[in-house]
Amino acid sequence: DGTTLDELIDVDMNEVSMRVMSDEELYAHEMERIFAKTWLLLAHETEIPNPGDFVMRDMAEDNVIVSRDRAGEIHVMLNVCPHRGMKVCLAEAGNAASHRCIYHGWAFKSDGSFLGAPVERERMHGDKRGKEELGLKKARVHVYGGLIFATWNYEGPTFEEFLGDTKFYFDQLFCRTDGGLEMLGPPQRFVLPCNWKIPGEQSGSDGFHTLTLHRSLMEGGIMGGTAESIYDNAPGMYGVDISCKQGHSLRCLEAALTFKMFSNMSFEGKTVDERLHMLPPPGITPELIPQLYKHLSPTQIEQLATCPPQVGGMFPNILFAFIFAPRTDGGASGALALHTYVPKGPNHVEFVNFIFAEKDAPEQVKRDMLQNSIQQTGTSGTIEQDDADTWPQIMRNARGVMGKGMTLKYQALTGHQKPEGWYGDGLIYPGFTKDDTQWNWWLAYRDLMSDA
Ligand code: FES
Repeated sequence: DGTTLDELIDVDMNEVSMRVMSDEELYAHEMERIFAKTWLLLAHETEIPNPGDFVMRDMAEDNVIVSRDRAGEIHVMLNVCPHRGMKVCLAEAGNAASHRCIYHGWAFKSDGSFLGAPVERERMHGDKRGKEELGLKKARVHVYGGLIFATWNYEGPTFEEFLGDTKFYFDQLFCRTDGGLEMLGPPQRFVLPCNWKIPGEQSGSDGFHTLTLHRSLMEGGIMGGTAESIYDNAPGMYGVDISCKQGHSLRCLEAALTFKMFSNMSFEGKTVDERLHMLPPPGITPELIPQLYKHLSPTQIEQLATCPPQVGGMFPNILFAFIFAPRTDGGASGALALHTYVPKGPNHVEFVNFIFAEKDAPEQVKRDMLQNSIQQTGTSGTIEQDDADTWPQIMRNARGVMGKGMTLKYQALTGHQKPEGWYGDGLIYPGFTKDDTQWNWWLAYRDLMSDA
């Protein structure tokens, strides 16, 4: 309607018009300029370990089949029959040597190539196109630490370019052990009545909301602080926030403060290895610590022992939470979860929750981690229920004539300051968590949306 992106995202005031959350025209542009162009997380390779295994997922509103072919290679195919547009695969998950459309029977191999149509002698696929042109539309695939990403953009950045400076940090979470991560069951899913950007911008490492919205975590002792001084002493608020021009971000918490909270003991005078054994990163058990040294550099190890990444996200719609949590045998196994916020029209989002443990962790630890994740970051968990109550209220406001004229404010900014001796690159924000990383999320959004 003539409104420019610069009017919606005010870079001088660091404000975003609430209209961006409800505008249907903008949503249509986002599907083309963001979701058809960036790398999207769909699945984990441990969901489809055998030839022929598949799961059905969504790349925004496009339904896709994530499949492992007979040779073991992973493919992502648009679940649209090239004949008359029917869904070829109707099952959420399974194993199949081929996929046969129920409408007229065209069939496709597990790599998406066209197998044939019924009544071969009648040439029901015609003569105008060769069989090699009649396969399912394929996306570009990259597997990173077992996570299956795909994009429709064959000419766009490689996955490494997409991660940019944050690869150094994400490797500490996803590429650190021999066996890698294992998904603990199928993802949990539910649909919320709000635009995808409401949870999306929070995945830009919004730490501040934790103090108030998730106050019960502090009161229950899960996030630290004391009953008298929750706002002053919560160790979860202090550390180093990291982001990059691609819009990804990580909140790294001071391990010494977290350790003190759990044990009331000090890291003082301890070596990196001693600290790793005193407080292993979430998901890492003592027997897995030697593997960290095989897969990570000395600086990455030092960061894990000092200021490990805890929560954050990858632009546009992924949140990760690798949380310390007490274990039943007295240790701290933690919870490893990833969420994706999949757009379902301008007014709805599907929340997809992936739960992980290290594949080589003891079985009891995996059970504890599954329980921790469900209780905390699961769809009915103590943390996500708070958010799921909040986001639809923001959405409701963004639809009002007056409400959509309001702005979201990102003015608590530290500015990039790389501490002396810091481990990696990127945009670095030390101290009490601020708005910088979420503002960078919006700058990445603006960059992609201005890219015609
Ligand atoms: Fe699939 Fe006709 S629509 S075979």
